[in-house]
Parts: sequence; C-alpha cells; structure tokens
Amino acid sequence: VELVHMASLVHDDLIDRAALRRGHATAWRTHGSVGARATGDYLFARAFSELAASDDAEGVQILADAALALVRGEALQHAQTHRPETTVDEYLHRCSLKTAELFRAACLLAGRDPRLGEFGRALGMAFQITDDILDCTGSTFETGKVAGNDLREGTPTLPLLLAAREDEVVRAALAGGPLDGALIRVAGTGAFDAAREVALRYAAEARSHLDGRYRPELEALTHIVVERRN
Ligand code: IPE
Ligand code: MG
Ligand code: MG
Repeated sequence: VELVHMASLVHDDLIDRAALRRGHATAWRTHGSVGARATGDYLFARAFSELAASDDAEGVQILADAALALVRGEALQHAQTHRPETTVDEYLHRCSLKTAELFRAACLLAGRDPRLGEFGRALGMAFQITDDILDCTGSTFETGKVAGNDLREGTPTLPLLLAAREDEVVRAALAGGPLDGALIRVAGTGAFDAAREVALRYAAEARSHLDGRYRPELEALTHIVVERRN
C-alpha cells in the first residue's frame, strides 16, 4: 500500500506541477518529467511484485482495484479542472476514487472485514477534504508543500468550489483567470468552515464503523486526520 501510495504521489506531483513534497523538491523538478513518470511506474510495478510474492490473489485484486480507482480519480480531476461549477457530489466522487479507495484497500488488506473497509473509506474522505483545506490554509513549514497549488492549477476542491459560489473573484480564478487576491477571499466566504464540517462528518462516520477491535488506535486516527496541520 505504501509503495502504491508513493507511486501515486510521484505521478501526482508531476500532474499537479507541485514543486515541494515533504519539504523536498519533487521528483519531476529534480529529475524531469520522464524520470518521474518512470519512477512512479516502477513503484507501482514493485508494489504488485511484492504482493504477488505473497500468493494472496484476493489481496492483489483489492490493491489492483484501488490503483485503478486512483487513476480514474486523477482522470476525473483532470476533467473537472477549471470548472468552478463542479458540484459537491462530483467532488466527493473524485475524492472517493483518488483517495478513499486506497484507504479502504489498506484496511481490507489488514482485516478482510467489510466494516473495516468502510471505516477506511470514510477516513480517506475526511483525510482528502482536510488536505484540500490545508492546500489553501497550510504553511509550507508545516505541510512541506507550497500553499495555493489547487487554485493555481484550477482544481475545484471543496473549499474552492464552495467559495466560488459566493465570490466572483474566486470563481474567475478557479476558471483560469487572474489569481491576485483570490485565495485571501476564500476565507471571507466561510468555505473553510463549511468544508471542515463535511470532513468532520466523514470522521464521525468512520468512528461509527468501528467495533471493539483496535478501537483506541483507529478512533485516534479519525481525530488526527482532521486536526492535523501537516
Ligand atoms: C493526492 O492528491 C494524490 C492522490 C490522491 C493520488 P492531491 O493532489 O489532492 O494531494 P497533494 O496535495 O498533492 O498531497
Ligand atoms: Mg497534488
Ligand atoms: Mg493531485
């Protein structure tokens, strides 16, 4: 799962033209896009090589389904780029594909328990929505990434698409127009609070799927994903 995750980030930073990841220059910035693409491909292949060696056909299928969902999610995001009119449901569907399915797979691989899978899916949704808020509000020192990348790339995340409904400057920026002052105006619309409410709802949903097993640790995760600053 970690290899698939890392592969997806190497490709994602290339797609998003992101300069920093975990405080370091991204692979494509250092080695060029051809090198980064090949590295991501290698990591994907390596993940399935590891899993195939475990002789766990069901496990291979679970991770393969998650990897396919991830690519569909990134493709969907590409289709939604510069579309401020993207609906909340369309955004949530994208998050489900590009992020929550991998969280679900991680939990399923561990326990083969559908309820644990549903816990992972909801946790992944809370994680991605919080990630999308942090893209606007986080500091590079804490996130290790450059703030404002989603707006610059025209990616309609939940806080940005909600703000675009209220503020014409944000809407125009998200559609590919001038960016000046747009990120500052997002806060004035209340979109961060509204997006955080949705993340908190998914975190609560994740808790509702837990039975007794590993409860303190897994419950702690549902708080960490929404309270984190990095
Ligand atoms: C994360 O997507 C990567 C995948 C889910 C494949 P984002 O583009 O939204 O996340 P960051 O901000 O680059 O980490
Ligand atoms: Mg990215
Ligand atoms: Mg991305």
